[in-house]
Amino acid sequence: MSILVTGGLGYIGSHTIIELINQNEEVVCIDNLSNSKITMLDQIEKITGKRITFYQVDCLDKDALENVFKKHDDIDTIIHFAGSKAVGESVVKPLLYYENNLMSTINLLNLMIKYHVNNFVFSSSATVYGNPERVPLFETDKIGGTTNPYGTTKLIIEGILQDVYKVHKELNIAILRYFNPIGAHESGLIGEAPNGIPNNLMPYITQVAIGIREKLSVFGDDYPTPDGTGVRDYIHVVDLAKGHVAAISKLRTNSGLVIYNLGTGKGTSVLELVHAFEEANGVKIPYVIAPRRAGDIAECYANCDKAKKELNWVATHSIVDACRDSWRFQQYFTKMESEK
Ligand code: WQD
Repeated sequence: MSILVTGGLGYIGSHTIIELINQNEEVVCIDNLSNSKITMLDQIEKITGKRITFYQVDCLDKDALENVFKKHDDIDTIIHFAGSKAVGESVVKPLLYYENNLMSTINLLNLMIKYHVNNFVFSSSATVYGNPERVPLFETDKIGGTTNPYGTTKLIIEGILQDVYKVHKELNIAILRYFNPIGAHESGLIGEAPNGIPNNLMPYITQVAIGIREKLSVFGDDYPTPDGTGVRDYIHVVDLAKGHVAAISKLRTNSGLVIYNLGTGKGTSVLELVHAFEEANGVKIPYVIAPRRAGDIAECYANCDKAKKELNWVATHSIVDACRDSWRFQQYFTKMESEK
């Protein structure tokens, strides 16, 4: 059997493909390369020794997408990472986000039903909880109140999956709500390399550390949190990848539709992460306190008991591991860029 991974050359997708290969799974990868590079295939091969099957396909291109299903009739599972994911960009380009994220998923679901592919893993996000009334967050907590089109696409897609499952009980669907992915593979050969100015905290920190950025702006220190800065649940990307492997095993037991938080269960503030990075790597991260960022919430972290109980999965990497791994990748990536 094969696993079709959409958006497989991206940050989380590439780390997940490595864990699938480690489990001797056959992988078929599609990616439109809008936010990733074809050279990721080389990096995956350097790490695993395997050259995966790859097609440059956009999930909005129904015919090209269907050709992949026709060529690979042994696909039994789809992991759907492909989608636009920048919160700020989604605010200024809502139609791009609604068309891309919703239509790519609808195209995949139609083809799954047509070709009797029954297992579907969806890359959702803690952002579907909106501004939570309490933390930690449980899967049974209310969802909604998303504050940007990116988050709203995730919310709408979760609703689509619930509705499709009501009439297609043959499907097994895992909705995985990611918290804040950070870190990189221990080899340092792959990691998070956003185009342009990073939106997310860790890539901004690593770019300050390497000298690409002068200093970090800490968006607000007046939140109702221990040190006043925003608190998030930072999960190592390799733990997140392993969570996908565990979810696929669950789906293959004909689980039906299941929902899991993938986090560490711990909250870490912006300044705690900055200080952990400085201590882990022996580098200084200059920062200034800046105004709050529109749409940000004070605190968000997971309760992960359900994934532990039902998937036998827990995050094992520490914040220090993630700081070291992110820094190793940033140094490798910057060296590669300078040698081009
Ligand atoms: C984390 C904390 C900021 C940058 C979003 C999406 C989520 C997922 C991850 C896609 C906050 C603070 C950040 C900076 C800062 N999306 N910060 N200075 O907003 O929690 O989550 O990205 O994969 O679905 O909602 O992540 O890393 O942007 O921010 O002070 O330069 O760091 O205020 O408290 P966020 P983030």
